[in-house]
This record gives sequence, C-alpha cells and structure tokens, in this order.
Amino acid sequence: MDAFLLEWGSLLLRWLHIITAMAWIGASFFFMHLDASLRASHDIPAGQGGAAWQVHGGGFYEMRKYFVAPATLPEELTWHKWQSYWTWLSGFVLLCWVYYAQASLYLIDPAVMALETWQAAAIGIGGLLFGWLVYHRLCKSPLGRNDALLALVGFVFVVAMSWLFSRVFSGRGAMIHTGALMATIMTANVAHVIMPNQRKVIASLKAGEAPDPKLGKEGKQRSTHNNYITLPVVFMMISNHYPMTWSNQNAIPLVTALVLVGGAIVRHFYNVRHADHDRSPWWAWAVAALVALVAFYVSLSASPAGRARLGLAPVEAPNAVAAVLPPAAAVDVVVGRCSMCHAAEPVWDGIGSPPKGVLLDTPERIAHQAAAIRMQAVLTHAMPPNNLTGITPDERRVLAAWLEGK
Ligand code: HEC
Repeated sequence: MDAFLLEWGSLLLRWLHIITAMAWIGASFFFMHLDASLRASHDIPAGQGGAAWQVHGGGFYEMRKYFVAPATLPEELTWHKWQSYWTWLSGFVLLCWVYYAQASLYLIDPAVMALETWQAAAIGIGGLLFGWLVYHRLCKSPLGRNDALLALVGFVFVVAMSWLFSRVFSGRGAMIHTGALMATIMTANVAHVIMPNQRKVIASLKAGEAPDPKLGKEGKQRSTHNNYITLPVVFMMISNHYPMTWSNQNAIPLVTALVLVGGAIVRHFYNVRHADHDRSPWWAWAVAALVALVAFYVSLSASPAGRARLGLAPVEAPNAVAAVLPPAAAVDVVVGRCSMCHAAEPVWDGIGSPPKGVLLDTPERIAHQAAAIRMQAVLTHAMPPNNLTGITPDERRVLAAWLEGK
C-alpha cells in the first residue's frame, strides 16, 4: 500500500511537473522567437517597437510589441507567470516526495556521506536558497554590468555547486540538485525581478511618469539567463534516469560544465537564427557535437569496462553500509536472478553498466535496495525484465517474506 502510494504520488507529481514545464518553456521559446522576428512597422516610431505576422490555427496573427509600453494601456492584460510558478512548485514537491521522503533510496549514499534524512533535506533546500542568493547578489554587484563576465562567473558558480552536491549526495541526488538550483534561479528571476519590475513600470505609466529604463534592462538580463539555461536544466532533470551521467561521482562537475556549454550553445543558435536566418551560426552545432562526444567519453569512466578501454585505473564501487543484512536465501535469489545485470560489471549481453545504477551483487547492496526490490520484483513483476532469468514464484515468495513491510 505505502509503496504504491509513493509511486502514484511520484507519477502524478511528475505528470503535473512535465505539463507545467512544457507550458512555461513553450511560452518562453515562443516569446524569444517573437522578439527576434519583430520588424520595423510604419505606424510604430523607430526604436519603440516592431511587428511580426504569424499564421496558426486557421488564422493570421498580427503581433506588435511596444518597447517600454504603448501610449495607452489596454483594459485587459494577460500575464505569463503561473506556468513558471507551478513548474517550480510541482518540481519542489516532487523533489521532496522522491528525494527527501525516500532519501535512503535516492539521495543518501553512505559511501559518500552517511547523512540522516533531515540533514540531507536541510543541505538540499539550504543549497537551493544559498545558490539563488549568491547568484542574485552577483547580478546586483558591479559584475552585473558586464554580461560576458557575469555569465562566466555564474557558470563557474553552478559547476562549483554541483561539485559541492557531489561531495554530500548520491550521484543522482547531486545531478537533480544542480538542476533544481538552476530551475530555482529561473523561477526566482521571474518572481523577484521580472514581475516586480514590470509592475513598477506599469505603476509609473499610470502615474503619468516615465518608467525607469533600468527596470526593463534588469528584467531582460534575467530573462536572457533563463533562456540560456533552459536546455541544460531539462537535461539535468532527466539525467538521473541515466546512471552513466552520474555513476562516476568525481566526473559530475565536468558533466555539469559540458551540459551547460552544450545546452547554451544550441539555444544560442536559435536565438541568432530567429533574428536573421542568413546569420545562423552553424558552428554552434559543431561545438555541441564535440561537447556530446566529450560527455560520452567522460561517461565511459563510470563503468569498469569503459575505464579499461580508456586506460584508466579501475575503481572498486564502495559497498553500501547496511546494519541488517538480508537472509541468505533471499541473497541467493537476488544474486542468482538479478546480479548478472545489476553488477558493477554486468555479464548480460547488451548491458554495459548496472541498469539505473542499481547494484545487487553483495548482501550489503541488496539490503540497501530492499524497497526497490520489493517494488520491482514482488509487488510488480517488472524485474527481471520479461523474466529473462527465469525467477520462479517460490523465489518471489522468498523475497516477499524478507521484504514484508519494507
Ligand atoms: C536482463 C537484465 C536484468 C535482470 C536480470 C534484472 N534487471 Fe533490474 N533492470 C534492468 C534494466 C534494463 C533496468 C532499467 C529499466 C528502465 O530503464 O526502466 C532495470 C532496473 C531495475 C531497478 C530500478 C527501477 C527504477 O525504475 O528505478 C531495480 C530496483 C531493479 N532493476 C531490480 C531488479 C531485481 C530485484 C532483479 C532480480 C529479481 C532484476 N532487477 C533483474 C535489467 C535487469
């Protein structure tokens, strides 16, 4: 019952999170494209706006943008903010649900640091808050006037935070927290800078005063940051399902750096192309391909076979620490039916590294995965996949007896 509740909660939250993120990112890409495709219009004074035509859904749209504001404000204005807020809220609850409520399974790796659940959650949430405050200060400091330098310092800061997370959390915990930090920065940019500045502009207009142009510039800077980190954030969010991106704990900062560069450069291609097709920076794809290739080789360092091929020294995956070991009969079943795939060096054809990073080859590691084994092999028959290794109903009962109540 509890296991199913946890899984259903996770599924529904993830569903909501993906939908709101689609709405937010979709709207944000749409407006970036629109901004880039605006052209001078005969009835808007030069430098004060532009227009663009689009065709969609059986009709034609004439889009017009007024820099700062039109001469008179319309009665009704649609704001775009809830997509962003809901994405963050659903993501935060999902983070708590999966990583803090099931910390021993997903977040705490005793071989990295033996934390209590509350300590891990405090470090995680504290890290997000700290990260946002540092970034916000950096933007407000004199550094904020130099866009390129600010981007460089911001990049180094995010990579440093991913290093920090990789020193305290499991690999996937480190990846998700790095992604969550960038996503928190994005939503906080909307909630604390872009929206309040827009409201101030409207208040000045209503009072018949000229709005401070600094407000618009600051909003634009934050929204440009959001634009460039969108693709890396999405990568970080799905990376936790791909253990080769995080199994080598030491490589996590490097993977983060590569993802930031690769994602931002692809975004850059579209930002320039949508403004002027003739200036499309095709070189961006060459850089992105190179980054993907380097990431591929870095990920090889996560598996023993890959390390051998790269000529790197082998590393012994540390044993999970477990107070209570499973009974010998259960260990026999798991080792006999699961460990051919779920070992540091799988022997099953076509499996290069332990699927989902789940290791089931020693009693300690099996104990560590108790709840997951129950979900995959007792409550459901998802594992072994298609019962490839021929686990018998009796053997499942042995597991069920051990896992009663876990
Ligand atoms: C033939 C290879 C193979 C065998 C044998 C096997 N698994 Fe798996 N296991 C996989 C693959 C592949 C995945 C990843 C599935 C996916 O991508 O959703 C996986 C995923 C898992 C996961 C992670 C699920 C998740 O979504 O986080 C657990 C836990 C697991 N297996 C447990 C077991 C147990 C317990 C057994 C033995 C009863 C077992 N596996 C036997 C290949 C195998």
